[in-house]
Amino acid sequence: MNVGNNNKDIVEDMDNTVKQGQKRGYEELLQGNRDWVQRELNEDPDYFTKLASGQEPDVLWIGCSDSRVPANQVTNTKPGQVFVHRNIANVCVHSDMNMLSVLDYAVNVLKVKHVIVAGHYGCGGVAAALSNKQYGVIDNWLRHIKDVYRLHSNELNRISDEKKKLNRLVELNAMEQVYNLCKTTIVQNAWRERADLEIHGWVIDLGTGLVKDLGVTVKNSDNLDKVFALDKSDIK
Ligand code: CO
Repeated sequence: MNVGNNNKDIVEDMDNTVKQGQKRGYEELLQGNRDWVQRELNEDPDYFTKLASGQEPDVLWIGCSDSRVPANQVTNTKPGQVFVHRNIANVCVHSDMNMLSVLDYAVNVLKVKHVIVAGHYGCGGVAAALSNKQYGVIDNWLRHIKDVYRLHSNELNRISDEKKKLNRLVELNAMEQVYNLCKTTIVQNAWRERADLEIHGWVIDLGTGLVKDLGVTVKNSDNLDKVFALDKSDIK
């Protein structure tokens, strides 16, 4: 989703995204697949034999579903290096079984060392959350971002420029999702067992392609608000 100066722009940009998708014909996708396979085989005849043998990614990427922020391209990594979960506006809520399952598998089975929440400037999901317009079922999902706004309303209400306000909310949303991950039993229990798990917050600038590290990396439960800190589990 792209972002505009008002709701109408956002809806038009959503329409344009669909139109661009339609330009790439179905057959073109299948041909694209064959081209990619051939390109990889030209470089390494054993590429797919190795790929099929298993994965050992060090990174879990939780990003926006926006078609312009693919994890591998943004980080210049190859298939097998980044475990990926994406949803609209990279939201991490503790009642989302999909996100929790990905997080649990990544942290406890794959033993990833880095979890990156990656937002992006111009996020249509965050822009929609800033507006008062109804978009449908998605409004319930975007409520989580309105909650982020409520937490930081003092700061955000002082920003009069709408684009700057949106971009700051994009940053604050990524940060809050980092903190949400830290509050899960999955991450808290993992930190009891190992010291090499870090949770990071990033924002991608679509205008430059560059990542901004928000500097909110969390490596342990030390600064967790007391009400969220959980004792060691007796269950098991
Ligand atoms: Co987005």
